[in-house]
Amino acid sequence: MTQAKATAISCANIAFIKYWGRRDHALRLPLNDSISMNLDGATTITTVAFDPALPADEVSIAGAPAPQRAAHRVSEHLDRVRMLAGIAEPARVASRNSFPMGAGIASSASAFAALSAAASAAAGLTLDERELTILARLGSGSACRSIPAGFVEWHAADTSEESYAESIAPPEHWDLRDLVAVVQTEHKEVGSTRGQELVDASPFAGARLAAAGRALPVIRAAILARDFTAFGQETEQEAIRMHAVAMTSQPSLLYWSPETVRVLRAVRAWRENGLEAYCTIDAGANVHVLCLGADAARVAAALSTLPGVREVIANRPGPGTRLAAEHLF
Ligand code: PMV
Repeated sequence: MTQAKATAISCANIAFIKYWGRRDHALRLPLNDSISMNLDGATTITTVAFDPALPADEVSIAGAPAPQRAAHRVSEHLDRVRMLAGIAEPARVASRNSFPMGAGIASSASAFAALSAAASAAAGLTLDERELTILARLGSGSACRSIPAGFVEWHAADTSEESYAESIAPPEHWDLRDLVAVVQTEHKEVGSTRGQELVDASPFAGARLAAAGRALPVIRAAILARDFTAFGQETEQEAIRMHAVAMTSQPSLLYWSPETVRVLRAVRAWRENGLEAYCTIDAGANVHVLCLGADAARVAAALSTLPGVREVIANRPGPGTRLAAEHLF
């Protein structure tokens, strides 16, 4: 028996050790383990209702019909849920983001995490957290890290069952802040799904993979010990390594804009002057500036005076994916 309707809310997440490259593209099995934090100020809410009266799946994003490619990817994910639940009904899906899509805040992560939780509940499935992370991973790799709460580690593995995500610390463990300096809101030219496929073409792919493997336990330990300096240094280095691989892929992926570099340089200068903050950047031009709660107001004020910074989205460590009582339709 399918439930009429279910709604889920998920946070986006920012990776400190990046998922960049896959060992299996169809199953979205990553090359390396990754670590992230959920972003409480960047959420997606999604309602799913299976309805035998519909001729086909109907998908809307922000109140408008979803572009064909996005709608197709949602339908493919619904097929996974239908297969698990043994149902064939089409679904109506409505989704809203609290932040701009496709510009380096992982909208696909919160989108596929919320879709997985809402669709599986609406289909009457009762998946545990680990199973839900695996389902979300099949929709978008980084989405698996938006299911558990707070600080999250995603395990790389050779099989789908072993590549899941789990929380390593709850949101209240550490008052770390992620201030997203938004310098671009347009869709990036090459999405991360495609970027993930080009990694092997970079001559630096192997070196970055080895470095990420060494950095991960350092970052995990720094999070657990709340050692901001060790955490920040390793995190900024990892972001630069990921982009070095992207830049040297074929074709070369250059996600940065002049404003990206301006923010990076400014943060490094503030650090020299005693205001401790570090940068990380996903597959887009926006810069995630990491600092401690005590410095967040100063860092946010300084960021908003930089030319080209259109908006600063402030985030604390966010909760895991949860079902909501209120629906979008
Ligand atoms: O899950 P995808 O395919 O959108 O890839 C996400 C890639 C990065 O955001 C750049 C890194 C990460 O680990 O989130």
